[in-house]
Amino acid sequence: MADLHERPELLIAQLQDVTGAYPASPTFSAYRGYSWFRDGAFIADGASAAASAAARRASGAGAASADALADSADRFFSWCARTIGGLAADIEAIAAAAESGEPLPDAAMPPTRFRFDGTPGDDDWWDFQLDGYGTWLWALEAHVARHARDAAPYASAVVSTVRLLVSSWHRPCFDWWEEHDEHRHVSTLGCVGAGLEAAVRLGVLPTQLASQARAAAQEIRALVLAQGVRDGHLVKWLGSREVDGSLSALIAPLGWIEPGSELARATLDAVHRDLEVDGGVHRFVDDTFFGGGQWPLLSCFLGLAELAAGDRDEAERLLAWARSTATEDGMVPEQVDRHLLAPEREQEWIDRWGTVATPLLWSHAMVARLEAALAAQPAEVDR
Ligand code: BGC
Repeated sequence: MADLHERPELLIAQLQDVTGAYPASPTFSAYRGYSWFRDGAFIADGASAAASAAARRASGAGAASADALADSADRFFSWCARTIGGLAADIEAIAAAAESGEPLPDAAMPPTRFRFDGTPGDDDWWDFQLDGYGTWLWALEAHVARHARDAAPYASAVVSTVRLLVSSWHRPCFDWWEEHDEHRHVSTLGCVGAGLEAAVRLGVLPTQLASQARAAAQEIRALVLAQGVRDGHLVKWLGSREVDGSLSALIAPLGWIEPGSELARATLDAVHRDLEVDGGVHRFVDDTFFGGGQWPLLSCFLGLAELAAGDRDEAERLLAWARSTATEDGMVPEQVDRHLLAPEREQEWIDRWGTVATPLLWSHAMVARLEAALAAQPAEVDR
């Protein structure tokens, strides 16, 4: 077996459930047994991009692992389509209520994470997060384009997801970090906007829904530019001043913000200034989760954005830091405690949930994704 230090993506196919679901973390008490659209979409995108990278350098075993990775992404997207199929009636009720001017309450909105069989599970969670519903559409379209897949089998799930997003994108909801459901988060809006634009490109939407998706995507962009920018950079939520580590993702791999733009540059500069220490990136300045450590997946998003903006050295520096967080047996964690923002808050989380989620599949995927992007340059423009 190739070493996980060299090929962090190999863990993705290894840990994928037979249903196609990706476990967020196989061992961490609070995540065990659940799959998220957010984590899963980025994991599938990592597998899909790593498959292309493996195919390019491949012969023999390499080609087989390329096929296995692309196939893993297919199986995840099929799982998403089945899971959304199970929510289709609820989504129609949500869309109909919104259209009638009496939107359903947050408690009736679809879940954030699912059991591997596609059911929501019974544990309480910070439900109602829209970003993953956008991100899976974006990742699906990227995969379909990258590996010349047929989008038709996904049509009804894409339609349902677009119905949900068109009717509800403007609602406040929990963010990537499952916090602050009183706000409208710029990363969430960007994921939804990117997902709607990708859904249109997939070419499976009925004409009227495609126009609604285009219109909603334009409104989202206009809203973010009007209320989600301060001092020239994107901010954490509409009206705030701070940045969030997740914002880099909107520049790459999502490409929702043009990587060469002044807005991208100012956003990345602010993320470096406020959240990056020696290559490790914090989620946000007030983070106290496990003491508020540094997240390798966020270093990789920052690296992807820097690479897309043309700074390969910076991308390599951030990748090296992310790789340095792997345990001896090659497991990449959710975060590390080399630099904590709130050291006094670390122990309470260890007491509550055990030590930091290790491995976190999303972390593995982002290391692989940045490696694939570096390997592809300049042959393939990052997308
Ligand atoms: C993070 C989420 C993530 C989940 C599963 C949470 O702690 O805030 O972004 O989706 O873990 O990995």
